[in-house]
Amino acid sequence: MSRKKIALIGAGNIGGTLAHLAAIKELGDIVLFDVVEGVPQGKALDLSQCGPIEGFDAKITGTNDYADIAGADVIIVTAGVARKPGMSRDDLLGINLKVMKAVGEGIKANAPDAFVICITNPLDAMVWALREFSGLPHNKVVGMAGVLDSARFSHFLAEEFQVSVRDVNSFVLGGHGDTMVPVVEYSTVAGIPIPDLIEQGRSTKERIDAIVQRTRSGGGEIVGLLKTGSAYYAPATSGIAMAEAYLNDQKRLLPCAAYVEGKYGVDGLYVGVPVVIGAGGVEQIVEIKLDDEAKANLQVSVDAVKELLVACKGIDPSLA
Ligand code: APR
Repeated sequence: MSRKKIALIGAGNIGGTLAHLAAIKELGDIVLFDVVEGVPQGKALDLSQCGPIEGFDAKITGTNDYADIAGADVIIVTAGVARKPGMSRDDLLGINLKVMKAVGEGIKANAPDAFVICITNPLDAMVWALREFSGLPHNKVVGMAGVLDSARFSHFLAEEFQVSVRDVNSFVLGGHGDTMVPVVEYSTVAGIPIPDLIEQGRSTKERIDAIVQRTRSGGGEIVGLLKTGSAYYAPATSGIAMAEAYLNDQKRLLPCAAYVEGKYGVDGLYVGVPVVIGAGGVEQIVEIKLDDEAKANLQVSVDAVKELLVACKGIDPSLA
């Protein structure tokens, strides 16, 4: 059996980290694509030289030609411009929409059977646009947001309760950004729901509310510190977890930006929901019971995504 092929569109900070992780995990051979000449080739060569030390055989190549992504099993898209301080994800809309058009057409022409994971922001709009431009089935195109958002939430919760991150399971829904909906009732430490831990006096509602807020603005906090770009280690790690779920048919239940039609009262939008990822791509969308507050928060999030799609259609009439 030949090795799997992973194409990474965008060889910037996240793209390079994705390639490094995919190689170390031997997920398959890796093609790094970028519009800038020399960057994907240089990064591929540098990363290939990790092989003898780390002991991986994954072949890593860099390219500026979409023809080289042909036959990719998984494609992870990070092409575009990252947020600068003071810039919201939505400011990126116009610039990155054009990038999604080029990438979508490149995928359609060269690798229409791939499972595509979009990371480019503003995520919920970009994954939708990428799906439209590529014409791939909805279950084969997903957005990476919830895995990262819930990792951020879990990290802060583990610190708060002074427990291992391995024992924290947190749950987020909705759009990626300020309107994401961390669901406290479904977030647990070794199966114990957070509200029960508050009742036991292990934390307070105020402290958990502050953690929820910090999770919502988790990306912005890092942008503010880095000053020259946005987070990349945890976003890449999250993308790789989704790729592994598909490649190894793991049937993992992960929060992802998936195309929702009907469930959660959403009709025909990409929004963050729990999904099962396996060899069939997005195999299931899991609906959970939400209280009125979470429902209202999810609606705010959905409305924000809808607004972005209206803006996209205004910028590119072919999407209307
Ligand atoms: N096709 C392919 N690559 C492109 C294109 C394009 N049309 N336009 C830009 N790129 C490349 C850039 O040359 C750059 O190498 O995309 C890469 C983006 O890399 P970085 O600027 O380092 O950004 P990164 O931190 O990797 O984030 C990428 O993910 O989380 C989101 O908000 C983030 O939208 C941003 C994306």
